[in-house]
Amino acid sequence: MQTHDIRKRFLDHFIRAGHTEVPSASLILDDPNLLFVNAGMVPFKPYFLGDQTPPYDRATSVQKCVRTLDIDEVGITTRHNTFFQMAGNFSFGDYFKREAISLAWSLLTGPVAEGGYGIDPDRLWPTVYVDDDEAEAIWREEIGVPAERIQRRGKKDNYWSMGVPGPCGPCSEIFYDRGPDYGVEGGPEADEDRYIEIWNLVFMENERGEGLTKDDYEILGPLPKKNIDTGMGVERVACLLQGVDNVYETDLCKPIIDLASEITGRRYGAGDQDDDVRFRVVADHARTAAMLIGDGVVPSNDGRGYVLRRLLRRVIRSMRLLSAHGDRDSTAPSMERIITAVIDLMAPSYPELEEQREHIVSVAAAEENTFGRTLAAGSRLFSEAAEATRSAGRAAISGSDAFALHDTYGFPIDLTLEMAAEAGLEVDRDGFSELMAQQRRRAKDDANARKSSHADHSVYREFLDRGPTVFTGFDELVSEARVLGLVSAGERVRSASPGTELEVILDRSPLYAESGGQMADQGSITTGDGVRLAVKDVQKVGKKLWLHRVVVDAGEIVEGDEVLASVDAGWRHGATQGHSGTHLVHAALRQVLGPTATQAGSLNRPGYLRFDFHAGAGLTESQREEIEQIANGAVEADYAVNTFETDLAKAKAMGAMALFGENYGDRVRVVEIGGPFSMELCGGTHVGSSAQIGPITVIGESSVGSGTRRVEAYVGMDSFRYLSRERALMAGLAASLKVPSDQVPDRVEQLVLKLKEAEKTVEALRAEQARADVAGLIDSAVSAGDTLVVAGRVGDGVDANGLRGLVADLRGRVADRNAVVALFSTAGDKVPFAIGTTEAARDAGLKAGDLVREVAPLVAGRGGGKPDLAQGSGSDASGIDAALSRVRDVIGTR
Ligand code: ALA
Repeated sequence: MQTHDIRKRFLDHFIRAGHTEVPSASLILDDPNLLFVNAGMVPFKPYFLGDQTPPYDRATSVQKCVRTLDIDEVGITTRHNTFFQMAGNFSFGDYFKREAISLAWSLLTGPVAEGGYGIDPDRLWPTVYVDDDEAEAIWREEIGVPAERIQRRGKKDNYWSMGVPGPCGPCSEIFYDRGPDYGVEGGPEADEDRYIEIWNLVFMENERGEGLTKDDYEILGPLPKKNIDTGMGVERVACLLQGVDNVYETDLCKPIIDLASEITGRRYGAGDQDDDVRFRVVADHARTAAMLIGDGVVPSNDGRGYVLRRLLRRVIRSMRLLSAHGDRDSTAPSMERIITAVIDLMAPSYPELEEQREHIVSVAAAEENTFGRTLAAGSRLFSEAAEATRSAGRAAISGSDAFALHDTYGFPIDLTLEMAAEAGLEVDRDGFSELMAQQRRRAKDDANARKSSHADHSVYREFLDRGPTVFTGFDELVSEARVLGLVSAGERVRSASPGTELEVILDRSPLYAESGGQMADQGSITTGDGVRLAVKDVQKVGKKLWLHRVVVDAGEIVEGDEVLASVDAGWRHGATQGHSGTHLVHAALRQVLGPTATQAGSLNRPGYLRFDFHAGAGLTESQREEIEQIANGAVEADYAVNTFETDLAKAKAMGAMALFGENYGDRVRVVEIGGPFSMELCGGTHVGSSAQIGPITVIGESSVGSGTRRVEAYVGMDSFRYLSRERALMAGLAASLKVPSDQVPDRVEQLVLKLKEAEKTVEALRAEQARADVAGLIDSAVSAGDTLVVAGRVGDGVDANGLRGLVADLRGRVADRNAVVALFSTAGDKVPFAIGTTEAARDAGLKAGDLVREVAPLVAGRGGGKPDLAQGSGSDASGIDAALSRVRDVIGTR
């Protein structure tokens, strides 16, 4: 049974049982605890917690999930995909254990002809939580599973939570027995390879607190209702129903393995275990990477982007190693073909991949390019490390070099090991592991920090339960409001006096809370009897509670006070200009670059905006100009700005642009500027008509990570002030150059040319002078033992290359003798030096590289090279004389 069919049967089964089908949410949901959505229930979390009322009592979905904790295990075990699809059914206070169990059972064991999976019931083993007699009884008495095939397990296995504070509950898991070929008898307690978990039924009834480990946390109390959350692993069921050995060989993964085999010339399953793991890594990671890019992630060096980067690099590395083993060109790019194949396979279930096809392929291919360069650079670092290891007479590359290769160049340790083995060296693995462990500890501390900031949210819980803050700021700038609560350092307080910083929660507020790229409003909160709070920032909790971060300027604010909340009108005017300006720039960009230039983020505040978008290459000067012209044309046209609310589906049908990966509710707000010119889903504040934005000046365009670009612009008076500064600058230049301003570019070009010529002349004179200087060194050369030592200092400003030339030149003049030439110079704050030996000197055992290493410390430097010519660079010119005599001493005392 094909995976697409397995998905469809699941959804149909639960739709027949009265569930509403909910499309998969983006992998990136706004949850500070989660890097990626990792379970089907994540989008429903507010319903379980009672923060929001669900629009249905029963739902079903097939959710995209990514788990990357055990990335190094992929391909080694048989059942872990970093990307997988979790099919689930959910009950929000509706049915509970009995129906959840029987619905799962009827789908698993129902005949194929009637929409089921047709699994032999004798192969299924349920588990229940240790004290869950109720679930055990349902399995035994109502479903008819024999008691010896039902196992009771503890909190670690059969009590489910997201691993962080949130909803939780006992669970009942269903395992499938793959038979004696896969392991020992005795049910899942005995062997989880033979008995493979396919479905987890969670009886979600409690809320958990913080905890240190998977099973050590406090149960805070019952949830408002008893719920059901289940998760069936679509890939695992596919693995069983398709009769294949592991999840990587199912119908949506195997074609990638086959393609990798075709590209690399290696065969999968031909007996080489390491290569097989590489094939599985390619199939698994390429798919996860494509799904992540499709949801807006781009490779970077931290957070989600780093995970993506790691996945892509592991694919590239695996392909290179396979190609090398298959006698193919290991540097030939393969990403485009692989990612294209992944999209072909997955797009029938995830149409967003089709829409983003070009973008996904280009981001992955760009990373392949970047990593190719990295590998080349890393290979140089590796050669240096290898050389240093050898010349120090050591057998193993140091742990810190291996770690630097890993950390800076993304070299996996197996690559370093392999290259070291090729070079006849070992690697200090213990040292490397210790540095890795330190890094992991740092990462864990970071993650804990993220979690604890989230834990603080419990103080807002009772406000959230009371309902949302009413936002009045679309219609008025001053509103009467009541202080519902004051929070200081994570604790409720009843009052606060001057100088205190705290958070104020009001029942209604005209102040805009930061969201959708628009910065928060500034303003004040005052009372009739002299209390005054300055509002510094406004943030939302749970998307609906406004937290006003304030400083008390005067008086004592007390919970329950009636207040006036006011927006700083000047600030708001600037903010609307910035936000409407962003929409115009967005519309203009799409006119110029086409629909693939999708939004990747934005930020606007009074006078300034920036807009990030997906694009493979930077804007050309003429594109930039065109964008600016279109945007300013829209200002000039004085378009009306309309805002209205409608259904998400209707808004999309009208062509309103939505931010990819954003979770919108059913009702959305549309902001329309000039009808079809710009229409976006947006909750921000805007000008009344486009002329109020004022001039828009694009001030820059740059890269912010591979595949993502950023334009920045000024709007309104800031735009004018910017242009006016530029004009003053130009006038100043024209005055200093004594030409009219339109002749400044020509004049500068002439000056630059002249300067270059002058520099060349100076350079030539300096070289001539240096040669004359050093010629005298031969006459003043002294003998040290049998060797003639030509050593001295060359006038200032000769760099390392110049110095090498001079050394070679001098050495040529004494080529038939046993001679060493050593020259030092100063260039800026550096002290370059070079040493050369003649053939006879080398025959006498003198090596330039050794001599350089010997004297380098005297000028606080380092260096190295070959026996005939070596060079170095130091930073302490006061040591030059000592270094020169050291050269003579070393040679003389051999
Ligand atoms: N939320 C449960 C899980 O992820 C179903 O296993």
